[in-house]
Amino acid sequence: MNVAVVGLQWGDEGKGKVVDLLAEHFDVVARYQGGHNAGHTVYRDGRKFVVHHVPAGIFHPHVQNVMGNGMVIDVEALLEEIAALESVGVAWRGRLWISDRAHVITPIHRWVETREEAWRGPCPIGTTRRGIGPAYEDKYGRRGLLMGQVVDGTWRSHVEWLWDRYVRMVGPSASPPECQAEWDRFRAALERAETYLADCVTQTDIWLRGRLQQGARVLFEGAQGTLLDVDHGTYPFVTSSHCSAGGVSIGLGISPRWVHRVFGVSKAYCTRVGAGPFPTELHDEVGQYIRARGAEYGATTGRPRRCGWLDLVALKYACDLNDVDGIVLTKLDILDGLPRVRLCVGYTLDGRPVEGCPVRADLLARVRPVYEDWPGWSESTYGVTSPDDLPETARAYIRRIEAYTGRPVVLLSSGPQRHETAWFRPPDEVLRPL
Ligand code: IMP
Repeated sequence: MNVAVVGLQWGDEGKGKVVDLLAEHFDVVARYQGGHNAGHTVYRDGRKFVVHHVPAGIFHPHVQNVMGNGMVIDVEALLEEIAALESVGVAWRGRLWISDRAHVITPIHRWVETREEAWRGPCPIGTTRRGIGPAYEDKYGRRGLLMGQVVDGTWRSHVEWLWDRYVRMVGPSASPPECQAEWDRFRAALERAETYLADCVTQTDIWLRGRLQQGARVLFEGAQGTLLDVDHGTYPFVTSSHCSAGGVSIGLGISPRWVHRVFGVSKAYCTRVGAGPFPTELHDEVGQYIRARGAEYGATTGRPRRCGWLDLVALKYACDLNDVDGIVLTKLDILDGLPRVRLCVGYTLDGRPVEGCPVRADLLARVRPVYEDWPGWSESTYGVTSPDDLPETARAYIRRIEAYTGRPVVLLSSGPQRHETAWFRPPDEVLRPL
């Protein structure tokens, strides 16, 4: 049975821990979109690791890992990430397969992004500045550089052409010495990757289809979150890839028929990093409480995250869009100690109730949340391993989430480490083949 794990909010839901936790039940972990804008945090033996490109399954020696064609890759950053994994004894060779049609992020993408953000004046998107958006633009502009070209050596003429094109477009001011230095570093990284990664860049779609046909169990790892999906998120304040479950098929080159179940990950509250509408955002001391207790600072950029109450309207939208079989709820313990917790159960627009979730940014920016107040809990829920150990008020909060979304909470992550987990249904039932 194959399972997709997707984010149900604006990213940072804790997918890294969930993928790491579930990976023991799978043979392959395959990532289908995004790049090193993601930061998937995994704790092993009390130590923290953050992977950006590499699937979080890499920490399980028996798991094969795929970086799909839907991804964009910063080769220099990937080499650093691999070196960091090696330095902690993770044997990756023979366990990491990179699609020959994943696209390469070049320094031009970062330069273009910096300008684009500046040109947006007072309303920048607040991107991670990793060149993700412009790399996807080049993909769709049919001039992107492929990982396959990196290992077959044809990258040399291609990158010259890209550089010439860029200089022609923006004029000589585009090539001050620091750009040239960055470009030289980029070329050096490709030079190294040409041999170093030669064994792992392959036609991963064929490999994966073969493994699926042999009966391998595959976990599809989403990055970012549904509300950042370029088509289904709060456009234009989104990333440039398909983070929702629909992205699995295209981003890995397999039929959607292979995705048997979808689990969505949601925090017990909301966060967002970067700009864009956020109806339940808190600007008061409760928001600060959540940020401080939840260490809500970007895993990739270190930026403080915006924090707010759980928005059930947006959550239901994401659950329905992905048709999730179950919700994995994370960071409930961050709400411990609050005398009152709030759930957004509707929106109004110009004083009138709104039907569903108007996901378009200009509309969502104008809605006002309608809240239900729920009693909080003073007990610690940190590290609980059974739903029975939760205070009744916390259980009532979870039941309300289930009732509103119409989806069961199957798992509660009660802390960053693997064992800090409470299954609401036995794992073999949740992961049982259909
Ligand atoms: P980009 O993906 O760098 O183009 O950024 C576009 C938007 O997505 C910005 O608001 C980013 O902060 C947000 N974003 C991208 N990746 C992540 C992530 O992994 N977690 C949370 N937000 C993200």
